[in-house]
Amino acid sequence: MIDIKGITKSFGSLQVLKGIDLHIDKGEVVSIVGPSGAGKTTLLQIIGTLDKPDSGDIIIDGTDVRKLGAKKLSEFRNRRIGFVFQFHQLLPEFTAVENVMLPAFIAGMSKSEAKKRAMELLDFMGLSDRADHKPNELSGGEKQRVAVARALVNRPAVILADEPSGSLDSKNKDELHRLFFDLRDRTGQTFVIVTHDESLAKITDRTIEMKDGMLEMEDELSLNTSS
Ligand SMILES: Nc1ncnc2c1ncn2[C@@H]1O[C@H](COP(=O)(O)OP(=O)(O)O)[C@@H](O)[C@H]1O
Ligand SMILES: [Mg+2]
Repeated sequence: MIDIKGITKSFGSLQVLKGIDLHIDKGEVVSIVGPSGAGKTTLLQIIGTLDKPDSGDIIIDGTDVRKLGAKKLSEFRNRRIGFVFQFHQLLPEFTAVENVMLPAFIAGMSKSEAKKRAMELLDFMGLSDRADHKPNELSGGEKQRVAVARALVNRPAVILADEPSGSLDSKNKDELHRLFFDLRDRTGQTFVIVTHDESLAKITDRTIEMKDGMLEMEDELSLNTSS
């Protein structure tokens, strides 16, 4: 599903990624942990095609993304990749359901179809009664679930999350984490989650440790045995 080889990336004279090799299977939930500044966000942005590596190979969902031009690349990103950030980044002037519909619109779905799909997702997240509220009328946990619904609206093959529960209290955090596994079980989607949260890292299929621009080790023993 995700195949990267020899990825390097520098900002000026600072080499942030020093040759990353990583293979992630379809339906895997992988966590990436490591100290601040290790290069986790940079790696996730490159996997998500939001940034380009200086060198190395990247195949995402069977597509060699380096070969796509700007237009095809943004189309690919819109349809195949869902992003969840630490801070929800919802558009404040739009309601919850409108925020969720937006990527579907961009992908060319009709308004009625996009709304139906968005409402299904909000319903699945237990948010159908919050659909017409704007972000500032929602709690932190609700906003983050709306952001997850938005990430899912185009049924992406890969969901990339950068410290998605970083701003949530423990109850909302647990619920969000359960949601990821629930989705994986239902849809076979692949999740790559950068996290500082040890309880989350523990329950993922695999934890990858990143340090100083390199992958330290792959803990194959952290296979989820709790279910
Ligand atoms: N756009 C950028 N320009 C310059 N330096 C950057 C940029 N993005 C990240 N960095 C630097 O790259 C290093 C790794 O950053 P990042 O990938 O955000 O690490 P992490 O997410 O693990 O905390 C840090 O030293 C950071 O300051
Ligand atoms: Mg980061």
